Amino acid sequence: MPFTIAIDGPAASGKGTISRALAERFGFHHLDTGLLYRAVGARGGDPIGAARMLDPDDLKRPDLRSNEAGQAASRVAAIPEVRDALVTFQRDFALREPGAVLDGRDIGTVICPEAHLKLYVIASDEVRARRRAAEIGADEAETLAALRERDARDSARATAPLCAAADAITLDTTAMSIGEAVSRAIAEVESRYPKA
Ligand code: CDP
Repeated sequence: MPFTIAIDGPAASGKGTISRALAERFGFHHLDTGLLYRAVGARGGDPIGAARMLDPDDLKRPDLRSNEAGQAASRVAAIPEVRDALVTFQRDFALREPGAVLDGRDIGTVICPEAHLKLYVIASDEVRARRRAAEIGADEAETLAALRERDARDSARATAPLCAAADAITLDTTAMSIGEAVSRAIAEVESRYPKA
C-alpha cells in the first residue's frame, strides 16, 4: 500500500517547498493540487466545464503563480461541482507507488482522510506575503492583501473549507528557515514510514 502525505495550510505558508523536498527525499510523487484550481480559474468561461475537461497541459501555463491567478482559483474553488470534478484525479494520484505527497487545502480532511501523515503548515501573514512577493516578483503590500482575501474566502466557503484535520500536526514556519522546516517534516515521515 502506498504511503500518503497530506499537506494543507493557508496561501504561501511553505506547503509547496516542503512537499517537493519530501517527495525528493523519499522518492514519492508530488501533486500541487492548487495548480488544478489555478488552471480552472485561468481557463475562464464555465468553471465546471473547465474542471471536467481539465487537460494536463493546462497545468503548464506560465501565468498560474500570479496573485490574479490565485484569486481566480479561490473563486472557482468555492464551487462544489468544480471540487467534485477534481476528486478522482487527486485520489488516483495518491495511490501511486511507492507513495505520494499532495498539498492543498482539503487533502487531510476530504481527499485523503486516511493519509499516513498530515501536516498543517502555517506562518504569519507578513512572512507569507514577503516570501510570495519575492517568489513571483510582486509588490509585498498587494500580495499581503491578496493572501488575506484568499484565506478568508477559502476558510469561509461551505464545501471543503481550509482547516486542519483533527489528526494533523501543525508546523509553524514563521521563524524557521526552509532547511529547518524541511528537516522537521522529514523527521515526521521517518517516524512513520517503515522504509525510511
Ligand atoms: O500556493 P498557494 O498556497 O498560494 O495557493 P495554491 O495552493 O496554489 O491554491 C490556490 C487556490 O486554490 C487556493 O486559494 C484555494 O482557493 C484553492 N485550493 C483549494 O481550494 N483546494 C486545494 N486542495 C488546493 C487549492
